[in-house]
Amino acid sequence: MLASKMTIVKKVNPVNPEDSVIEEAARVIRNNGTVIFPTETVYGLGANALDPEASMKIFIAKNRQPDNPLIVHIHSLEQLFEIVEDVPENITRIMKKVWPGPITFVVKKTDKIPLVTSGGLQTVAIRMPAHPVALKLIEVSGVPIGAPSANLATRPSPTKVEHIIDEMMGRVDMIIDGGETFFGVESTVIDVTKNPPVLLRPGPFTLEELRNYFDDVIVPDFAQGKGEAEVALSPGMKYKHYAPTKRVFLAKNTESLIRIVHSLRSKYRFATICSRETGAMLEGNKIITGSKENLYEVAKNLFDSLRKLDRMEVDFGIAEPYPERGIGLAIMNRLRKACAFTVVSSAEDLIQYLQT
Ligand code: TXA
Ligand code: MG
Repeated sequence: MLASKMTIVKKVNPVNPEDSVIEEAARVIRNNGTVIFPTETVYGLGANALDPEASMKIFIAKNRQPDNPLIVHIHSLEQLFEIVEDVPENITRIMKKVWPGPITFVVKKTDKIPLVTSGGLQTVAIRMPAHPVALKLIEVSGVPIGAPSANLATRPSPTKVEHIIDEMMGRVDMIIDGGETFFGVESTVIDVTKNPPVLLRPGPFTLEELRNYFDDVIVPDFAQGKGEAEVALSPGMKYKHYAPTKRVFLAKNTESLIRIVHSLRSKYRFATICSRETGAMLEGNKIITGSKENLYEVAKNLFDSLRKLDRMEVDFGIAEPYPERGIGLAIMNRLRKACAFTVVSSAEDLIQYLQT
């Protein structure tokens, strides 16, 4: 069991953060402590990325496996060049256009990045977040901040402070409450040490947009959440992810979801995680993610809906799938993992899974 820490919680204006809060948090980072802060994607659990002991505290607070590397957050390109070398000119040109924003580049690392931070790899993932609180915190701290999502390992990423209070009180030094995060799914991760580059995790910076910047992008099956990643490509992807404690099944399509719900409704206690449009056609327990016409709304509420399922008095959940375009690719990647890849097309299918 982890020794309990005193955790300071401070509210902040997410658009124009108060200097006093940022300075207090920056002091914690400089003293090699841990701070949970909002980004435009999800909340991050940060510490000084250049110090192995500080970095180690992140792994301990999250129960994270040591071979699952952190994303290093920077606030300027100057800071990038202080910690990595040999980023090809064509890549820095792209970084200048897309940063700050919800996209992470895997590049070659130098000795400045400790192996603890990079999970033992010779590459490192780097991102310049677009959230004013995150940017200001990195700048005032004066060091790059290593920050994975601020959830316990295997749990859904936090998009609201209430998710963090549930899990992280006593495990970190400080929590900055900047309200709900904007996108609700984690950044796009692209490995630019490969040619053509490989999409390791789809996110708010969409594949369609990436294709405007790169002639070709490799999209492995696991980037869609279909099957496990090769360890060599992306170590973090092999671990269980985004899992509520209750079982969730992913319906093959909306029609099968509706049929399954109708036929199981009187026999089982479950909740349907679905769009507003589909929800309007269904009876029983529902968790609405958003409109089918607005996948950004669905993404924003996705992890919160998985956590809501855990709090409901039901035995399992059935989730509706979404079209895999735009941010829909990121939604489906997270949903497939949350459902541990169990896709059901009929009530019989689902009942069979329940018995295993
Ligand atoms: O939006 C985000 O990216 C959030 C916020 C806090 O910035 N952070 C986040 O970090 O989602 P995390 O640790 O939960 O996810 C990082 C992912 C992991 O799947 C990890 O395996 C992958 O990035 N990754 C990190 N470094 C890598 C590397 N050198 N090579 C391949 N994959 C790497
Ligand atoms: Mg994570």
